[in-house]
Amino acid sequence: MSAVPNSALASAAGTLDHEAWCAARLAEVEQALGRWVCGESLAQCHAAPAALVAAMRYAVLDGGKRLRPLLVLAAYEAVSGSASGAGQEAALRAACAVELIHAYSLVHDDMPCMDNDVLRRGKPTVHVQFGEAGALLAGDALQALAFEILTPALEQVDAVTQARLCSLLARAAGSVGMAGGQAIDLASVGQQLNEDQLREMHQRKTGALLQGSVMMGAHCGQPGAQALQALQDYGAAIGLAFQVVDDVLDVTADSATLGKTAGKDADNDKPTYVSLMGLERSQAYARELLAQALAALQRSGLKNTQALTALALMVVQRAS
Ligand code: IPE
Ligand code: IPE
Ligand code: MG
Ligand code: MG
Ligand code: MG
Repeated sequence: MSAVPNSALASAAGTLDHEAWCAARLAEVEQALGRWVCGESLAQCHAAPAALVAAMRYAVLDGGKRLRPLLVLAAYEAVSGSASGAGQEAALRAACAVELIHAYSLVHDDMPCMDNDVLRRGKPTVHVQFGEAGALLAGDALQALAFEILTPALEQVDAVTQARLCSLLARAAGSVGMAGGQAIDLASVGQQLNEDQLREMHQRKTGALLQGSVMMGAHCGQPGAQALQALQDYGAAIGLAFQVVDDVLDVTADSATLGKTAGKDADNDKPTYVSLMGLERSQAYARELLAQALAALQRSGLKNTQALTALALMVVQRAS
């Protein structure tokens, strides 16, 4: 499939003021994360050890693009037709839960036993700040907290939605998703993967959680079969595109812009899209995946897809 021309990209986000949309959703997500990551909202957090809570909050708050929460909320709004409605509480909980899983994955990804990185979101990594055991436990606790947030009292989110959201998140995060992809990543150090193998690794380690975000948001509404399939395809395309661009930025951007150490993939001898096909073909492939994502939205039959469109553009055109 051919790449999207720039003129099409410029008009693709349609009439939505994407900056205002993002600012409003981000404010909501930040506020909820601040409350739920062992703030006042969860009674048992008061019994949690202070050092563990400090490491959890350090890992989650004050940083990150929050792309996954934005995808959850955008998919919910596309399916339900508005930001409010019966699924609003579930969507906010899903948005925060997926960000907690993502934050935990970053904490563990940076540890000396994995990528051994000292900079994340412009700050020293969690293990540098709190020690390796502190980082390990913060990750463990964030993962558990994600599922706690998805399972509130039944008056807040109905039982069927709770079960579906837990199932989608567990699958995206587990051995067939993110954790499985990370295992393949570590086993592939120093190896030359072919394109199929590299795609599979990236789809799992990064794509699964991004696609899962879209599907969780969709299931907070009442999606029809056609919309669901199209959103699945959209999620798969942007999920893979996200890691292709991450590989590219590791080579083209600097550490200050990224808020994490640039050039780390080559240093760690990781197979990446850049090492497999070079910079230009990687960038072209990301644009091709963007075109696939936009085509999926067009066949979704959904009207309210401007935010999903703008987020797809952001995935591929971002600088950090
Ligand atoms: C970085 O993810 C890790 C990958 C999956 C490539 P992000 O680039 O979304 O990191 P934050 O959340 O903005 O810090
Ligand atoms: C990480 O991929 C994917 C995760 C599941 C965290 P990378 O190792 O490339 O992520 P960065 O570049 O450290 O953010
Ligand atoms: Mg890694
Ligand atoms: Mg890493
Ligand atoms: Mg990377």
